Amino acid sequence: MRHLMSPLDFSVEELDELLGLAQDIEAHPDKYAHACDGKKLATLFYEPSTRTRLSHEAAMLNLGGSIMGFSSAESSSAAKGESVSDTIRTISCYADICAMRHPKEGAPMVACQHSSIPVINAGDGGHQHPTQTLTDLLTILNVKGRLNKMTIGLCGDLKFGRTVHSLIHALVRYEGIQFVLISPEELRLPDYMRHDVLDKLNIPYQEVVRLEDAIPKLDILYMTRVQKERFFNEEDYVRMKDFYILDKKKMRLAPEDMYVLHPLPRVNEISVEIDDDPRAAYFKQMQYGVYVRMALILTLLDIHVD
Ligand code: NCD
Repeated sequence: MRHLMSPLDFSVEELDELLGLAQDIEAHPDKYAHACDGKKLATLFYEPSTRTRLSHEAAMLNLGGSIMGFSSAESSSAAKGESVSDTIRTISCYADICAMRHPKEGAPMVACQHSSIPVINAGDGGHQHPTQTLTDLLTILNVKGRLNKMTIGLCGDLKFGRTVHSLIHALVRYEGIQFVLISPEELRLPDYMRHDVLDKLNIPYQEVVRLEDAIPKLDILYMTRVQKERFFNEEDYVRMKDFYILDKKKMRLAPEDMYVLHPLPRVNEISVEIDDDPRAAYFKQMQYGVYVRMALILTLLDIHVD
């Protein structure tokens, strides 16, 4: 049985296959409409979500399956003190696959050790968010036509942003990738990512504070929200929250073929005035999130459609 805890759980070849499947699903949705007839997905969300939970659910419904779950810890027995391991033992009796989001790093890993169904990590604290990475990779592939030979700017909360951590893990396996890490000093990429991943693998990167300095040389600009819920005090958050605002003026400095991604939700970091810019790819990105999660569910359930 397979789980998805980190993007590294798939080899590059397996990832290529999964992204190819997502593209086929986009092109021929009818072919897959009954692939999961009779199967059930449970979504166990201990933290707020719009896209991640609903796109997993939409994915299962598009495949002909059914869904169940809870969308907050308060509406589950976690509020009575139940452990993740007991909850997952229960869910294993009711569903065929589950997606779990939890504020504690490692909670989905604990779940998969006690589960008899595949567990998808739908975000664990400030650690990883592998299904967002699948979405990001599919988006980059669709807008740029490749996943290698690229300069990727990661901007915003690189400290707590789990989508950034997972995306780096996935992209360093492709040839010719370099990063520009754009953040305020206090929200720099953690040492365990910089030293243990980038330095160790000799991946070229640069750290800058000003977005304007980085933007002219990027192929992809990946914007992120300052992760309010992970701050220890409100004051620090308020000071950081509007540090970056991508607007028309800054987009004028960007190459014609530099695409802007954002895992969403956005707060103020992308001005709505650039939503109609052809380089704004973040709404496409959330649509791709459904196709890629359909491909993921099929892969983890080992269901093949000819
Ligand atoms: C991201 C997350 O939950 O980490 N959202 C998402 O799943 N699309 C990013 C965020 O909340 O800022």
